Amino acid sequence: MIRRAEQTRDLSSAYRHIEQIASDCMRRDEPLYRHTTLRIGGPADLWVKPRTVETALNVLSFCQMEKVPHVVLGKGSNVLVSDSGFRGVVINLSSCFRQYKQVDDGVRCGSGLGLPTFVRKLAAAGLSGLEFAVGIPGTIGGAVATNAGAHGTEISQLLKRAVVMMEGERRVLSRSAISFSYREAAVGGVVLEVELTMEERPPEVVREKISHFMHLRKTTQPIWERTAGCVFKNPPGDSAGRLIDSLGLKGTSVGQATVSELHANFIVNTGTATAADMLALIEIIRTRVREEAGIELELEIELIGNVAQ
Ligand code: EPU
Repeated sequence: MIRRAEQTRDLSSAYRHIEQIASDCMRRDEPLYRHTTLRIGGPADLWVKPRTVETALNVLSFCQMEKVPHVVLGKGSNVLVSDSGFRGVVINLSSCFRQYKQVDDGVRCGSGLGLPTFVRKLAAAGLSGLEFAVGIPGTIGGAVATNAGAHGTEISQLLKRAVVMMEGERRVLSRSAISFSYREAAVGGVVLEVELTMEERPPEVVREKISHFMHLRKTTQPIWERTAGCVFKNPPGDSAGRLIDSLGLKGTSVGQATVSELHANFIVNTGTATAADMLALIEIIRTRVREEAGIELELEIELIGNVAQ
């Protein structure tokens, strides 16, 4: 999905309104590279990090009802932000939607919770199910909105229901009301809270699974480097990483964007790479894979801002 802010509309009165309702938690012209795992991205017109649920709901409702271009950014993984930034409002929910509570056979949790930390907290409480996500550097909300997965499990398999802000209103959607597919979820709004099915297990058993998955990640993916995660979706029946590797593209660079030597479906920002470098490298990879394997690779990462493709 490509989010392009409208270029022509005058948003100044909308921004003034948001400044009034979120005066204690917003900044103008905030550089987005500070908020992405790739460390790439120009400024957002407005950056809002609500301190309270009430402020978050007001800002989201206003943006939705007034059709103000907006995007919710959690940990900033899985995205490539344009060098010219985003003409709209970027909202981060990690200060307000960060509560969690054990319920019946599961857990109710805020969308702003970061997966690696939350998974470890679940382990301490003896709750199992989300271990596969321990190495995913995103939030619960981002994971549900993109149906994140790893090691054979997708987060949709655990979902019981989600509270979503849509058309300016809070709605509770059961799992069956959301259509999920590989790395896709038709949520139709902004995920605020979710309820996930969990199983009770001794904490040491849960921790053992976490260690296993972390070991797999560390040995096969460049988790310590600046990346956005896997760049391309896997084509049916194959692995994009395997394909790109088989064409000898590891180490290929444009500027300081380089195909990882550890896993070819990752592009590493080795210094001061730009979004333009990333896109040029993506195009080189796509062209080679198209010409030599006859496969059209589809982007998994989401493009934010005016990104020419
Ligand atoms: N392979 C290579 N060279 C490479 C990379 C992989 O030959 O450079 C081979 C591996 O040796 C293996 C096969 O390709 O035989 C599959 O590799 P891997 O197990 O790493 O899985 P993947 O299909 O490349 C998927 C997800 C990852 C997820 C892992 C582990 C996608 C696009 N990728 O990768 O998800 O972490 O499985 O479950 O679905 C992400 O979504 O951002 C992501 C990283």
